[in-house]
Amino acid sequence: MLTTDQIWIIARATGTAALVALVLSILSGMALRSGALAWLSHNRGVRAVHDLTSVLWLPLVVVHVITLMLDPYAKVGVIDLFIPFLVSYGSFAIGLGTISLQLIAVVVISTWLRSRLTQQGWLAIHRLSYVAFVGAFAHGLLAGTDFAQPLLSALAWLTAAVLLIVAVRRLTASRGRQSPARSKTVAIP
Ligand code: HEM
Repeated sequence: MLTTDQIWIIARATGTAALVALVLSILSGMALRSGALAWLSHNRGVRAVHDLTSVLWLPLVVVHVITLMLDPYAKVGVIDLFIPFLVSYGSFAIGLGTISLQLIAVVVISTWLRSRLTQQGWLAIHRLSYVAFVGAFAHGLLAGTDFAQPLLSALAWLTAAVLLIVAVRRLTASRGRQSPARSKTVAIP
């Protein structure tokens, strides 16, 4: 039988591990097209990391949430998985976790249904993962205990900065690819 302290440690560890999986999933996803990780691995390797981490976060979050439900101090219930901001303390921080969980669930489900969606529709849903990540990141920082430690906090912000740099690189790279096509379209009478 686990003690309350052990349950709390598992909840924190799985929450942090889920966030790490999400970071790796988003980073490898962005690197697939931008080639941001080409110095580290070829595209097949990056793709393997993306496929693994996109699924890995799920069991980690399931354990995170179940342990928090078992923790008498956390006071998280089944309803909090469906309706955000109901928890009596830190409702904003914990509500962000609920919203992120729901958004990522939609992204994962849309991937399974990809053949039934248009490419544009699928991409629009897939991009929700950026919003979900920002929510999960804020949730971890605001709701968590461990992120108050300077080392973990510094690591978290460093990771967020790396993601931002790769995101900007990816955006500018895709704009660069698009511009000749756009100017061509304009030139057609
Ligand atoms: C994408 C989904 C989620 C991720 C990635 C995630 C991640 C995290 C992380 C990283 C922490 C900080 C751990 C620490 O330093 O203590 C945390 C804490 C917490 N999370 Fe989540 N979480 C998610 C979903 C949820 C959901 C759906 C709930 C409840 C409805 C929830 C409730 C909590 C609570 C209560 C804490 C505070 C634990 C403490 O006392 O330290 N989380 N989460």
